[in-house]
Amino acid sequence: MQPNQPPTTYLADYRPPVYLIDHVELQVQLHEQGTRVQAKLQIRRNPQADPQETTLCLQGEALQHQWIAINGTRLADEDLIFSEHQVAIPNPPTRFTLTSAVQIAPETNQALEGLYRSGNMFCTQCEAEGFRRITWYIDRPDVMATFQVRIEAEKARYPVLLSNGNLLEQGDLPAGRHYALWHDPLPKPCYLFALVAGELHYIQGQHTTSSGKSVTLRIYTEPDNIHQCDHALYALKQAMRWDEQHYGREYDLELYNIVAATDFNMGAMENKGLNIFNAKYVLASPTTATDQDYQAIESVITHEYFHNWTGNRITCRDWFQLSLKEGLTVYRDQTFSADQIARSVKRIEDVNLLRMHQFTEDASPMAHPVRPDAYIEIRNFYTATVYEKGAEVVRMQALLLGPTQYRQAMDLYFARHDGQAVTIEDFMACMAEVSGRDFSQFQHWYTYAGTPLVQVQDEYDAATGTYRLHCTQQVPDTPGQTNKPAFLIPIAVGLLNPAGHDMLTAPSSEHPDGTVLLELQAPTQTFAFHNLPERPTPSLLRGFSAPVKLDYPYTDPQLLHLIAQDSDHFNRWEAAQNLYVRLILQAVTQPTINMPLDLPDGLAATLRTVLQTSTTEPALSAALLRLPSLAYLSDQMAIVDIDGLYRARQALRHGIALALYDTFYARYQQLTETDTYQTTPEAIGRRSLKNVLLDYLVSQDTESVWELALTQYQAQHNMTDVMAALALLADSTHPQRQTVLDTFAERWQADTLVMDKWFSVQARAARPDTLATVQRLMHHPAFSLQNPNKVRALIGAFSTQNPLCFHAADGSGYRFLSTQIQALDQFNPQIAARLVRGLARWQRYDSTRQQPMRTALQALLNDQTSKDVYEIAAQALGQH
Ligand code: TRP
Ligand code: ZN
Repeated sequence: MQPNQPPTTYLADYRPPVYLIDHVELQVQLHEQGTRVQAKLQIRRNPQADPQETTLCLQGEALQHQWIAINGTRLADEDLIFSEHQVAIPNPPTRFTLTSAVQIAPETNQALEGLYRSGNMFCTQCEAEGFRRITWYIDRPDVMATFQVRIEAEKARYPVLLSNGNLLEQGDLPAGRHYALWHDPLPKPCYLFALVAGELHYIQGQHTTSSGKSVTLRIYTEPDNIHQCDHALYALKQAMRWDEQHYGREYDLELYNIVAATDFNMGAMENKGLNIFNAKYVLASPTTATDQDYQAIESVITHEYFHNWTGNRITCRDWFQLSLKEGLTVYRDQTFSADQIARSVKRIEDVNLLRMHQFTEDASPMAHPVRPDAYIEIRNFYTATVYEKGAEVVRMQALLLGPTQYRQAMDLYFARHDGQAVTIEDFMACMAEVSGRDFSQFQHWYTYAGTPLVQVQDEYDAATGTYRLHCTQQVPDTPGQTNKPAFLIPIAVGLLNPAGHDMLTAPSSEHPDGTVLLELQAPTQTFAFHNLPERPTPSLLRGFSAPVKLDYPYTDPQLLHLIAQDSDHFNRWEAAQNLYVRLILQAVTQPTINMPLDLPDGLAATLRTVLQTSTTEPALSAALLRLPSLAYLSDQMAIVDIDGLYRARQALRHGIALALYDTFYARYQQLTETDTYQTTPEAIGRRSLKNVLLDYLVSQDTESVWELALTQYQAQHNMTDVMAALALLADSTHPQRQTVLDTFAERWQADTLVMDKWFSVQARAARPDTLATVQRLMHHPAFSLQNPNKVRALIGAFSTQNPLCFHAADGSGYRFLSTQIQALDQFNPQIAARLVRGLARWQRYDSTRQQPMRTALQALLNDQTSKDVYEIAAQALGQH
């Protein structure tokens, strides 16, 4: 029941907390019905607080209040001022002990925030503001306390009782109950609190830190899945070593626990010493998990581990600073993963995701700065902008400083702020201090939304051998922000001669040979290069050195030259994407789209070279061959013609497959015959190439190519190959389609994570009956609206990964989504609000679609709407 205008929180209103909590003792008595929580808080007045402020405010939500006492004396009702989600206590002493007792109901908690049940276990999720659903507390990240937690539960059903830190003692209690006492010695904000109870099994490992301390590592899961935890444990050990080697950071407790939960709103949570994970990012075996799943596990395990320093030891002063921990930690996990596989391939994947999610967000009514300055519901700000663009902004700082100074700046950051709750300015001050640079212009990246557009034109003077790049930058207006100042944009540039060699020699050893880093600071600026005997082909924004849109009038032959020759592998991919986008957009505007599309001169020959292992590793070949997604293509059109884009993309796919059929066929066969299942980067690269080739081959729609797909499916060699073939079949009208889908479901009905894949392939199918299928699958016994993974697999996949069907001209996709959001919003507003984003870009669609999209959004603004959904829907409609 939401009043129609929920209140907004502003960064400008930040005040230091009036009271601080030094130590917490929590007693949690778990019961199947009604859990009791008693808290004992050591509180003192904050010397930094405004002297006028003398009221202690504690937050609480969905608590059944019993009593509050100060220094052992219960407060009378008139000493407590209750308001929505808060209790105020006027004029408490300057130092005192506050005790409280509440009852909570984890068994009916379907918001999956605070203490809740997942399967047979109890678990918690407190970030950002979930701790207030467990006990009365000053729920903000700049209040940091040491915790001692006593958990009591029935021993038979909950033999494992976990919380943060170290186990002090455990023992039996009367009536078949038992307890465990945990102590976390390092002060932490309450959003890092965690508790788990259940019948869990674990696998164990051990890590010796570089200074020689031994750490016990455990991965807990429900007993059935215990054989699927090895990869997670392996990744954790890798992450621990890497952080020691690259950042000099060691783990600080004797125990590191990870628990896999089936019901989880996000990916995972970095709770101190007790990470809680979406099971999807823990469990894997070759028959059940794809190569992508393995890589996702690695990056999420690493991400949460890296939070121990960037997030936990040094935390955020307030939630506006979220990117301080998230952007930085994403940057750290991205660099870790790039070290494990081919660096450029990882960069290509990251940039691809950034463009698909963040650039589109930045170009929508949902655009917001990396550091927002206002929010209604903080849960809505765990966005691609805060995470992925935030990581780009850290990456640019690392690039500007170079590896040596960047490491010094990070060392300074850790030394100076360990144990503190700080701001993005504190972080940048370390970068500025070490480098001696002024970061005031750079800060625009944090405070202004919008993706800058950089336009480049060039000019070559053969007489003097001078080459000039004229650059202009524009940062688009976004809601509430117009006429933005110029940014500092690092542009890595190489110049290629006709033979494809780099013409520049790098000025310092910090940059790879052949690349120079230009710093675009003014609205327009010219950079000159001298002594060039020939006109170069510019390779601009190498490695995607800044999160901008780049516009340079490349000719087709220049793009082909870059695809074949650029020493910067990222830019080889970028050139291929540019060319594909150009061909698809040209085809869209033609009255009838040719099937298959004619290829420009040289493209087939270039792609044939790309397939030769001697010049290109298979993972990169796969990336070079992969066509841009419909989501990315949509972002390239002012008014999206989704049907046209789909047909043009299919026509190009068909055209490439036709021109290269024999080469693709031979290479596919060769890769299939030589594949022995391994999870090395090389083997993964070969599989990804094989499956890109299969996708092309299948576009020919002949008996013999479908035979390849069916054979690959039936071989059941590993889940990567199975899913690649299944996705193609699911997307088709092949007579065996339904049989294959049915046998898959029968085989995997007991494995909830595999069933998610089965839901998704069907939701992504470009078929006229897809919406009807999705609606039917919502009644499948394996589906549940209460489980976020299921919602993402079916409704999420349909609305975000199937633009063709979701944007059906009759508005059926929009109506379906709106209905599901309203149903979900009744019990899990966080998940409901995420889905609203599918409707946010209505202005980019034609008038037939705009109206039903707006109607679908409008339907979300009623008196049943949560503030989560309200905020996104209202902003999408421009009413906020
Ligand atoms: N801090 C988590 C991460 O990025 C994100 C997270 C997990 C989260 N669960 C959440 C954020 C619930 C909000 C609500 O690693
Ligand atoms: Zn994170």
